[in-house]
Amino acid sequence: MDDLRDKYIDLIANAADEAALEDLRVQAIGKKGEISLQMRELGRMTPEERQVAGPKLNALKDEIASALAAKKEALGDAALDERLRHEWLDVTLPTRPRREGTIHPISQVTEEVTAIFADMGFKVAEGPQIESDWFNFDALNIPGHHPARAEMDTFYTHRSEGDDRPPHVLRTHTSPVQIRAMQDQGAPIRIIAPGRVYRADYDMTHTPMFHQVEGLAIDKDISMANLKWVLEEFVKAFFEVDDVELRFRASHFPFTEPSAEVDIRCSWEGGTLKVGQGDDWLEVLGSGMVHPKVLEAGNIDPNAWQGFAFGLGIDRIAMLKYGIPDLRAFFDSDLRWLRHYGFSALDVPTLRGGLSS
Ligand code: DAH
Repeated sequence: MDDLRDKYIDLIANAADEAALEDLRVQAIGKKGEISLQMRELGRMTPEERQVAGPKLNALKDEIASALAAKKEALGDAALDERLRHEWLDVTLPTRPRREGTIHPISQVTEEVTAIFADMGFKVAEGPQIESDWFNFDALNIPGHHPARAEMDTFYTHRSEGDDRPPHVLRTHTSPVQIRAMQDQGAPIRIIAPGRVYRADYDMTHTPMFHQVEGLAIDKDISMANLKWVLEEFVKAFFEVDDVELRFRASHFPFTEPSAEVDIRCSWEGGTLKVGQGDDWLEVLGSGMVHPKVLEAGNIDPNAWQGFAFGLGIDRIAMLKYGIPDLRAFFDSDLRWLRHYGFSALDVPTLRGGLSS
């Protein structure tokens, strides 16, 4: 029995492949294998002999079976290693660009804006497009009678008959995300909130659905000076120019005090916009210091915290940067337009790699 054991352990160790291993299995412990035949002999033994030989044979059969299994696994590993050595794939290779897919300018500009503000430590926050009128208006210090509600050409949803709760609205701006973010994250906070907004309006520069990005920075000692710096950095980076002059015009928004509208110096020479030089001013956003009532609505103590907010039209700055004259074409889903104004899916905007190239 020991000879049998040594023979098969040795043969198994030297088996070249799985086929050779299978032959050995049949030879040793297959139905007519050497060990199986020996087991048949047990029947002819005396009970005493059988008591000694039986367990020994069983143990031998088990040992051979596990040696076979172990060798099989080792051969499998070796085969896999060998395959992996031949079949390799360079996952860092670029994919093949295809003509039919391009990134919409709105997506591109949203990515650009996000890259710039992320670099300044702003996180992206989100909120629902169907919003309660409390978040869209009241929490932003726009009470029920306020003219801003009418001015915004709000889309209202329907309540069922007999339901007297105020209807939800399609959010008219991204400002309600300020409230949600403050409630969720508390102070200090630095977020931007890009997204869709809705107003009943339609002409060359207005569509019923458009895009804004909201900004909010709350801390112990944030002032208008910080707002000005952040916006200057943003405008320079976004329009990819070295220097830019911003003009802060006193304005009024219910949710900021003081409030300012921001213009950038530009020229329209020859019908094309040049940012940073010239005698014209271009209005790009609304901003200000967050009103104490707005902080309170966000569960933040206005005696301990203060900060700035701004709201910027994404579609508008996309039109300006990329020279797109009619806003309505953005949402016509015309493939020819997309191919002309769209961006390669492979060029992800980053500050290091370039925003638009
Ligand atoms: N929500 C304003 C609008 O849609 C834009 C705005 C102005 C946002 C001033 C702000 C802000 O955060 O401080 O017209």
